[in-house]
Amino acid sequence: MKKKILKLIEKKNKRPLVCLTAYSKPITKIIDKYCDIILVGDSLATVVYGMKNTHDIKINTIIDHAIVVKNNIEKALCVVDMPKNTYRNKKEAIKNAKLIITKSKCDAVKIECNGNNYEIIKNLVLNKIPVMGHIGFTPQYFNKFRIQGTSKKEQNKLISQAINIEKAGAFSIVLECINLKLAQKITNTLKIPTIGIGASAQCDGQILVTDDMLGLSGFYPRFVKKYAKLDKIIEKSVQKYKNDVLNKKFPGIKNIY
Ligand code: KIV
Repeated sequence: MKKKILKLIEKKNKRPLVCLTAYSKPITKIIDKYCDIILVGDSLATVVYGMKNTHDIKINTIIDHAIVVKNNIEKALCVVDMPKNTYRNKKEAIKNAKLIITKSKCDAVKIECNGNNYEIIKNLVLNKIPVMGHIGFTPQYFNKFRIQGTSKKEQNKLISQAINIEKAGAFSIVLECINLKLAQKITNTLKIPTIGIGASAQCDGQILVTDDMLGLSGFYPRFVKKYAKLDKIIEKSVQKYKNDVLNKKFPGIKNIY
């Protein structure tokens, strides 16, 4: 396994992992020094392209953004989401994971798990492709956002999914939208780090969609803490610019040749 990934696994039980998403150069450059992992998530579909869900984002679109992000990372581990319908069987998964890795030079791919794709993860790992799993609320398999693992049966299913993903060789696993107790149980059961989103501070690390935490996406479920209101800052700036242009205050003496 790559040194960078082994080092990340070793951080379990030492300090929480800091993870965020990025799709562009300016955001990558700002967040890189603070993050252990930068994910080029398929949330790109909704956040950047305004699609209604993540289901139709094309692999080449993700790759284009992954190339930009990876080119601007100096420190963090770069993980890229495999879009829906690009890993339905072993052959398809290998072909597409190799395409993502060779074109973007990213460190690993992320796969949403439905309880039926452990063999696909195992085969990717056997082919030296590092894999991050993703369970709980997995947007590629759902249409409606809802907390997962609310019944005992669902909780047992998620625990056994997490164990099977670890057994298949994944180096970490995202837990999305599950309660504190279940996150704690899974985190304590696994040797690999768990990365929570809406899954409590019991996880080994946290991830948020950067546009959500900056107040830019318009999507703010309970688990998103807004660290800034960039939408308001941008709007005020644009209003000022408009006024300046209308009143011939811009360009001023400092802005001309
Ligand atoms: O696509 C994405 O941004 C993700 C994170 C929310 C974990 O999968």
